[in-house]
Amino acid sequence: VAQLLDGKVVAAKVQAAVAEGVGALHARGVRPTLAVVLVGEDPASKVYVGGKRRACRVLGIEARDHLFPEGLAQADLLALIRELNADRSVHGILVQLPLPPGIDEDRVIAAVDPAKDVDGFHPENLGRLLAGMPGVLPCTPAGVIEILDHYGVDLKGAEAVVVGRSRIVGKPLAQLLLGRHATVTMCHTRTRDLAAHTQRAEILAVAAGRPAVVTGDMVRPDAVVVDVGVNRLANGKLAGDVEFATVSPRVRAITPVPGGVGPMTIAMLMRNTLDAARRQAGLG
Ligand SMILES: NC(=O)c1ccc[n+]([C@@H]2O[C@H](COP(=O)([O-])OP(=O)(O)OC[C@H]3O[C@@H](n4cnc5c(N)ncnc54)[C@H](OP(=O)(O)O)[C@@H]3O)[C@@H](O)[C@H]2O)c1
Repeated sequence: VAQLLDGKVVAAKVQAAVAEGVGALHARGVRPTLAVVLVGEDPASKVYVGGKRRACRVLGIEARDHLFPEGLAQADLLALIRELNADRSVHGILVQLPLPPGIDEDRVIAAVDPAKDVDGFHPENLGRLLAGMPGVLPCTPAGVIEILDHYGVDLKGAEAVVVGRSRIVGKPLAQLLLGRHATVTMCHTRTRDLAAHTQRAEILAVAAGRPAVVTGDMVRPDAVVVDVGVNRLANGKLAGDVEFATVSPRVRAITPVPGGVGPMTIAMLMRNTLDAARRQAGLG
């Protein structure tokens, strides 16, 4: 039976370090501040924003809410972003996605000052990742690497397979693994024989957005499996993209859902906010 890679433990470690860093900034009169922008009533978005706000409160980061009804005009949202960019008391700007129809997400993301882009979604930060330059890393992929490092998983030279090629998870995660000298294969819906790839993976990261994309017959026995997926099943329970019941008895290690990657995403957002505050205060 696989070792469980516990994201709650790793997230607590990251958050303890963030709390200490926040304390050090407070002592110098800097109050790390995150602007939280939420448009519309998407229930999942509300849950995510609630979790982020709670983490801020626990760690001493000030969260400032900017909540708008679904009908907010794009021009007004862009004007708010410009205001937050110019506000020196705001260090990070979080625009909760998805934005309602009628608002161009790419334009909004690109309007955020890259220095305050604590989600790491701005094209400049993604470009920096590709170029190997320092920048803000997207929270979920950075959290995956943090879990693997915590458990001492050796990435150098490893066969890594990433299922999913989204801009916020799959692509940046593949890039981070490459930066750590893994040999990386990226799979997606046009991949001809998914199982042939996953069966070779020593590190298997799955961010496909549907349950049971990977099943027990698709893994090798020494695999370390990272399940990024969060799916709400018909019975109301949460499940990842990996079929836990068939995969976990057949691999070396696996992240559970919930309690795996999820807690890491928020922890890395808190770390990005602290780092942004440090740099903007000239201390980083
Ligand atoms: N734990 C967290 O904090 C966290 C954070 C972010 C996301 N997530 C979860 O992670 C999952 C992925 O999120 P995302 O934003 O990356 O999703 P996304 O934008 O929908 O992208 C899904 C990717 O997976 C690929 N894919 C879908 N079904 C596949 C299949 N059957 N076989 C192979 N590839 C398949 C798609 O391929 P194509 O490109 O060909 O369409 C696409 O590239 C979701 O469940 C999401 O809820 C969790």
